[in-house]
Amino acid sequence: MNIILLGPPGAGKGTQSGLLVDKYGMRQLSTGDMLRAAVKAQTPVGQRAKAVMEAGQLVSDEIVSDLIDAELAAMPPETGAIFDGYPRTEAQAVSLDGLLAKHGRQLDHVIELSVNEDALVERITGRFTCANCGEGYHDQFKLPKVDGECDRCGSTEFKRRPDDNEDTVRTRMAEYRAKTAPILPYYDARDLVARVDGMAEIGLVTRAIDKVMQSD
Ligand code: AP5
Repeated sequence: MNIILLGPPGAGKGTQSGLLVDKYGMRQLSTGDMLRAAVKAQTPVGQRAKAVMEAGQLVSDEIVSDLIDAELAAMPPETGAIFDGYPRTEAQAVSLDGLLAKHGRQLDHVIELSVNEDALVERITGRFTCANCGEGYHDQFKLPKVDGECDRCGSTEFKRRPDDNEDTVRTRMAEYRAKTAPILPYYDARDLVARVDGMAEIGLVTRAIDKVMQSD
């Protein structure tokens, strides 16, 4: 199964992708994670993306579609893909159709996490991750079970993203409204979109996504 998780910054795309990976052995394809890895490794793509990401704007369609193409080429055909943060523009949605056809896959669901944008600023500015394994946490909603120690790998090192400050979050949300939300009709026309309440508790959101995935 191949699905897209769509929603503004902080909607829970990364959180839910991680849970689906654990449960179904699917692969999370997060263009944000790929770009952050490229920035960290100072590759040519990372050098081009760094300032754009820190400003909360979108990296070029060509860069992200090339990243997704390479990931799909390296994946076993039987492993399902969760597209997290991609596509983000109409041009990327069209590219994804071409890439899915090229790699012999089809899109099963586009799951939109519906959220209240004001609550998202609080979610994002409170977010932090394990510096070792990437497990996600939140100052209020999801703290490690043992203070200062990652639940998954036991590391005591945590980090916060440079674009998780309020000003940049507002720009990222404006980008979502202007460029990403308008691609929903593209998928609505093919009857692929399911809407899930992303403001519910994390486990309930997972259950609602599960229900959509079982609906085939
Ligand atoms: P990206 O990394 O994709 O960031 P984003 O879309 O802004 O999404 P986030 O990762 O911030 O949020 P999320 O929905 O994953 O929420 P999370 O699960 O972490 O992109 C970053 C940048 O890269 C972009 O700005 C752009 O520059 C560039 N980029 C990436 N892809 C691109 C593309 N395709 N094209 C062009 N440019 C691209 O949850 C947030 C917090 O809330 C967590 O702490 C979590 O614990 C908590 N939480 C989650 N769900 C719930 C819940 N139900 N209740 C309470 N708390 C919750």
